[in-house]
Amino acid sequence: MRVIAMPEYGAPATVHETEIPDPRPGEVRVRVHAASVNGFDLAVLAGYLQGAMEHRFPVVVGKDFAGVVDALGEGVTDYAVGDRVFGVVTKEYLGDGSFGDYVTVPVAVGIAPLPEGISFADGGALGLAGTAALTSLDAAAEAAGGLEGKTVLVVGAPGGVGSYAVQLARHAGARVVATASTDVETAHVTALGAAAVVDHTADLAAQVSDVAGSPADVVLHLAGDPVAALGALVDKGTLVSTLLQTPDQVPAENVTVVPVYANPTRETLERLAAEHDAGRVRTVVQATYPLASGPEALAAFAAGTVGKILVEVA
Ligand SMILES: NC(=O)c1ccc[n+]([C@@H]2O[C@H](COP(=O)([O-])OP(=O)(O)OC[C@H]3O[C@@H](n4cnc5c(N)ncnc54)[C@H](OP(=O)(O)O)[C@@H]3O)[C@@H](O)[C@H]2O)c1
Repeated sequence: MRVIAMPEYGAPATVHETEIPDPRPGEVRVRVHAASVNGFDLAVLAGYLQGAMEHRFPVVVGKDFAGVVDALGEGVTDYAVGDRVFGVVTKEYLGDGSFGDYVTVPVAVGIAPLPEGISFADGGALGLAGTAALTSLDAAAEAAGGLEGKTVLVVGAPGGVGSYAVQLARHAGARVVATASTDVETAHVTALGAAAVVDHTADLAAQVSDVAGSPADVVLHLAGDPVAALGALVDKGTLVSTLLQTPDQVPAENVTVVPVYANPTRETLERLAAEHDAGRVRTVVQATYPLASGPEALAAFAAGTVGKILVEVA
């Protein structure tokens, strides 16, 4: 089968031919139809996970997938051959990525049924970014006592996580202020439900107070300098971050800082699918690349995205 893989540390991801993997006990094999690029993939390629996770070379890139179950490992009863599924490859080691004709995934975490109403393209975009967005909003709602009527600033709104977060925050009743730095990004976040747009290259705090009448109750920090994001937050407000690992990484007095780790449980993926299926969340795809152009898809993501960059496999 074809895969996009990193053959050794420091080497770029390129097209390789490899054996079709057999699912291990507790895994299914998925015939991949679509995948998408995330910051995690670039982090792997940049060597940031060296020492933190075992690398099994060639390391096939890719977390997100959507496709059809085509083989069952021993003990799997939750899925059948032919089931449409989507999710996020979640293993203790790196190597079995989704940028390939097939991927094996454990059924315990990172996979859920893909409803008929959701295309493989949308399913292939949804997993990690959607999980991060949903988890961030759950954390924000819990820390802030709900989001209804609150001003939520989404920093990094045009990207994959931000695009889902803007929609989910709006449907939770928040007044969403989104960052954007170009006309295309402004149109994108406005179409997703942002009530106001601020430019992340200028003073965030002043702009948020200007457009919302007061600082933000909640900041979703998905990009850029967390200290600048904190400046736009009201006293006793909540900053939820997908970039911070611990609250003490920022000097935050009188605010709650919540680092988020996206765990794609079946329950979370099913909630996301339900939101998508009901039309409360939609996927915006900036560009689609065939599998053989996976390296170009990764480069396009690195250059900045509005929504998601897709890899079409089958
Ligand atoms: N903790 C977790 O479990 C988890 C899970 C998923 C993702 N993440 C992380 O969350 C972040 C967002 O992910 P993503 O997939 O949405 O990435 P993305 O698609 O690259 O989106 C990032 C967005 O931020 C914007 N941006 C860049 N620099 C900025 C700045 N200084 N201030 C404000 N906005 C800026 C970018 O737009 P322009 O470049 O056009 O300005 C882009 O729209 C990434 O760092 C990713 O690694 C973490």
